[in-house]
Amino acid sequence: MFISFEGIEGSGKSTQIQLLESSLKELGHNVKKLREPGTTVLGEKIREIFLEETNETIDPTTEAFLLYASRKHLDQNILRKNLAKGHVVIADRYADATIAYQCYGKGLSKDFIGYIHEKSELLTPDLTFYMDISAEKSKERISNREMDRMESEPLEFFRKVREGYQEIASNNPDRVVCLDANRGIEELKKEIIDRTLKKINATLE
Ligand code: TMP
Repeated sequence: MFISFEGIEGSGKSTQIQLLESSLKELGHNVKKLREPGTTVLGEKIREIFLEETNETIDPTTEAFLLYASRKHLDQNILRKNLAKGHVVIADRYADATIAYQCYGKGLSKDFIGYIHEKSELLTPDLTFYMDISAEKSKERISNREMDRMESEPLEFFRKVREGYQEIASNNPDRVVCLDANRGIEELKKEIIDRTLKKINATLE
């Protein structure tokens, strides 16, 4: 079972990933957590390059190649191996993030990303939780941390990324669960675990 979490900065993804991981482990599941870009040695190096603030502008096409290099390497080294062992894999972001950030946020062609994704022979998550918050709320929640290259983007960028995520959610209703991330942590946790267990049971039938 491959589950991904998506959302703009400060949406509470990390907290819910942590809670889902512990709930599943308590129920006896083997769980592997991933983050994108990152997780592998090569991926973490790409993450550093990707997020570092420099005085050079990085074109969204260059961003996409960095992200897809990390993603393909993760797929080969960790993702498929864990799925083959029957583990539940929880990814903190996956390919929807590239559509939302690079395509909707920065204007890169969706066909281009669709092509790279298909030719790289990558998987699609079985279930995706999209944590929806406004761009204003996001900026407010991250205002007290030191911002990386992406977090430093203006409010308008995050508005476009959010619109992208909302469209991805409405175009993929069987896979993507859109959650109002303003709800309480416990309430969100309950819905996420319920939906995950339902999906796990459905795949076992
Ligand atoms: P985070 O996962 O710690 O929030 O940091 C990852 C950053 O990278 C975040 O700003 C979103 C961005 N990102 C993209 O722009 N495209 C992608 O495909 C992925 C996976 C992340």
